[in-house]
Amino acid sequence: MKVALGADHGGFQLKELLAEFLRTEGYEVRDLGTCNTDPSDYPDFAAAVAEALIRREAERGILVCGSGVGASIAANKFPDIRAATCHDTFSAHQGVEDDDMNLLCLGERIIGPELAKEIVMRFLHARFSQAERHVRRAGKVKAIEERYMKAGGS
Ligand code: RB5
Repeated sequence: MKVALGADHGGFQLKELLAEFLRTEGYEVRDLGTCNTDPSDYPDFAAAVAEALIRREAERGILVCGSGVGASIAANKFPDIRAATCHDTFSAHQGVEDDDMNLLCLGERIIGPELAKEIVMRFLHARFSQAERHVRRAGKVKAIEERYMKAGGS
C-alpha cells in the first residue's frame, strides 16, 4: 500500500519516525515534508497529502502536527478527503470501517511514538465495511460537500 506522509514543524519528529517504521513494515511511503523543525504552516502539508490522495498517488494519508487538529481541519477542506485526529486505536480502525476515513491525523505533542505506531497500523489494516447504513451516511457526507462546492463555485 502507498501511504502519503506529511507534517509541519510540530509533527516533524514523529513523521520521520513513522516514515521509517512504515518502510520497515513494507509500505511504500511518499514523504511530502516538512524536512526539518523550522517553523512551517500545516495547511501546506495538508494540501500536499490531500492532493496526493486525490490524484491517487497514495491510498492512505497520515498528517502530523502538534495537536493533530489544524491538520485535520485543513485536510477536510479537500474533496473526497475524510480526515480525523485519532489518538486511540479504536477510533483509528472504526473511522475507516464505518466512516471510510482515508487520512489519519496525529498530534506529536499529545501521544508517544509507540501508541502512534499502533494507531497507524490499526488505521492502515482497516477497510471500509461497505455496510448499507455506512454507505448511506458516507453518501450524505459527500452530498454536503457537493452542495457547498457548487455554492462556492457560483
Ligand atoms: C504549531 O505550533 C501548531 O500550532 C501546529 O503544529 C498544530 O498543532 C496545529 O493544530
